[in-house]
This record gives sequence, structure tokens and C-alpha cells, in this order.
Amino acid sequence: MSFDRVWLDANLATMIPRAGGATMPRGDDPLGIIEDGAIASKDGRIAWVGRRADLPSSAASVTRCDGAWILPGLIDCHTHLVFAGDRAREFEMRLEGASYEEIAKAGGGILSTVRATRAATEQALIDSALPRLDELLAQGVTTVEIKSGYGLDLETEARMLRAARALGRRRDVAVTTTLLAAHAVPPEYQGHRADFARHVADAILPAIAAEGIADAVDAFTDSAIGFTPAETEAVFLAARALGLPVKLHADQLRDDAGAGLAARFGALSADHIEYASATGIEAMARAGTVGVLLPGAYYFIRETHLPDIAAMRAAGLRMALATDCNPGSCPSPNLLLMLNLGCTLFRLTVAEALAGVTTHAAAALGLPDRGALAPGLRCDLSLFAINRPAELCYWLGRNPCIGRIVVGQ
Ligand code: NIG
Ligand code: FE
Repeated sequence: MSFDRVWLDANLATMIPRAGGATMPRGDDPLGIIEDGAIASKDGRIAWVGRRADLPSSAASVTRCDGAWILPGLIDCHTHLVFAGDRAREFEMRLEGASYEEIAKAGGGILSTVRATRAATEQALIDSALPRLDELLAQGVTTVEIKSGYGLDLETEARMLRAARALGRRRDVAVTTTLLAAHAVPPEYQGHRADFARHVADAILPAIAAEGIADAVDAFTDSAIGFTPAETEAVFLAARALGLPVKLHADQLRDDAGAGLAARFGALSADHIEYASATGIEAMARAGTVGVLLPGAYYFIRETHLPDIAAMRAAGLRMALATDCNPGSCPSPNLLLMLNLGCTLFRLTVAEALAGVTTHAAAALGLPDRGALAPGLRCDLSLFAINRPAELCYWLGRNPCIGRIVVGQ
């Protein structure tokens, strides 16, 4: 067969674990490494992966990679990339002693971004998000999830999702969109939280589904500043009726049994989960719900309660890592930094962290066609000038990405 493109002189981290490999300590090879490897593409898919010496045929276009490392295109599976304004003033207030929760309760926090986002045009939302998106792309990101959640009314939620979709047309990147209308209680529903959850379920969700601008539905379950499990269920039932998969901001600030709720609904992922109980974690693993860890938010709001990584490992939970890029709890479009924070703060291994931005991130988005280097998958690649994959987790805020291929281009 003839290939469209071939990449040579590269080391590959296929992200398909192999037992008994020779390249890693303890004899296993969780990254599925192929040294002196080659990858070939055909019609935007990976057509062949292996050792260069075994490459069966050549291609019209051959790229020599000078010993660079190729990984699957990185996936940021949890972002709030689209928003207006910033919350630097709130950051100052926190430095003067206020807590994230106190600021939220005083009408700041998420609601201050809601005011700014409601006042912004779709074009303004696109323009302010583009530089953030470009930072992610420069690091080798080829798929990014973008949530709404700063509109809290149909008009603005829809505008945010349209802006997110437009970003995917403005740049070479796959964008998936998630409706997060149940993110906070908007001013016009203050004191009527359950009514707003119903409004999300009965009015906002069906309208967004009819327009076809959301790939999934998310909610913020938190008994103090988000929604109760019962209110969240109303939203999830509506999503299920419309055939939309669900995700959940769960157990970020306290254990509200969010992990178990996400599992019961077969959620694609439950995210944050610092306070998730071992029982909740086990339920997630059984349901196939991915645990998305957000160490940047943990760091930025100076959380001290660590997610129970030992319980996650024991349960065999698939763990993903994402930026959570948002103006309040993690103003950072830097996925490579999250690799370092995941390892440093949560003590993830290099293999766990890298799976978190590739295979497991793909699972968190319900996208089995990407996240690894294997024939048949989308040819999304990220190239790095590094000597070993651990460098991707080791550098603190340095970007060794030298190339990015999306659908073979
Ligand atoms: O993922 N937890 C809720 N939502 C966001 C923060 C949003 C904000 O503060 O603007 C999060 O951390
Ligand atoms: Fe978030």
C-alpha cells in the first residue's frame, strides 16, 4: 500500500502499554515505546506504526524528525476556555485573606465572569479565547474540550458554545463542546436554585440539543455554591432523554457524593474529585467513568485535600489530567504545566500523567478514535525535542513542542 506521509527518525510513545518491554524499569513499558520508529498516514488516519527498519513502503512526503519524540496529539479534556474578562482583582482579594467560597458567596467568583460574558458578543468571546487556544496548540494539543457555564441563560450559553465551535474552525484543532448551564445560580434565580436546575433541564438543554451545539452536558455538584445531587439528577435525566453524554464537576470542595452520582449515570468523567470517597471512586471505575484530575485548580485555590490517588489506582480508575483553564480557579492554558503539577502535587507517575493527556483524556471525551499511536486512529501527532518522555513532566513551564499534526496534516 502507498502512504500519504511518513515520519522517520523519531522515537514513539504509542501510549499502548506493553508488559515485559525492555525500555522501562521493572520490565514493563507503560508508554509503549518504539525507539527509532516510523509512522505512516493515509487519508488522515494512522496507517502504520513500528520500527523504522520494518517500514513496508515509502510515501510521497517523508519527514525526518531528527530523533524527536512523537506522542499522540495531546488532549485537554476539561477547559472553560471561552469567557470574558478576568478575575485578577479577585486574586488580589484572596491574597488579602478572602477564600474562593467567600468570594463566590459575595456575588464575585463565577458570577462576576457571568456578568462580563453576558455583555460580550460572540466575536469578542472568540477573540479573547484565541490567544489561550493558541498557547495550548503550541504545546501539541490537537483536541480540546470547551465548556459553557458563564452565561447561565439560554442566549449566552448558546453564544459561548457557538464561539467554542467557531474556534475549532479558526484553528486546526478538534473542539468538543460541553453545556455547563448548571454551573452556578444566576442572579435572576437567587434563592431559587432548584427552579433554575429545572429551567436548565426543561428549557436550556432541549434548545441547545435542538441547535446541535453541545457534545455533552456537565454540572457543578456542590452543596454550598453549586447544585445538590438531586438538582443535578434532574439535569442528567434531561440529558439522557436527549441522548447527550454527561460529565460532572464533582467533590471539588467537599464530598457531596458526586463521584457516585456520576457513576450512576454512566458519566464519561467526574472531574476534580479531590474529596471523592473510596466508595465513589470504586463506583466510577466500575461504571467506566474517567477521573479527571485538575492539579492547576488544586494549586491555584490552594486546596490542601489531596485526591485519593491510592484508591484510584487500587480501583483501576482511568485518570485523565486537564488544565481546567478558567478565570477563577485556574487561569492557565498550559497543559504541560499540568503534567508537572500532576506529578509533583498528586505524585502521579510519568506514565499516569502522560496517559492522562492522551488515552484517558480521549476516554473522558468519549473519543475512541484518538489518544494513542495505532493503525486506524486519527493521525493526530505531537512532536517534542526531548531525550525521554519524562521530560514532558519534568520541565516546569517550559515547552519543548516542535510540531503538531492534525488529521495527517
Ligand atoms: O472547574 N468548580 C467550578 N467551576 C470552575 C471554576 C469556575 C470559576 O471559578 O470561574 C472549576 O474550577
Ligand atoms: Fe472546571
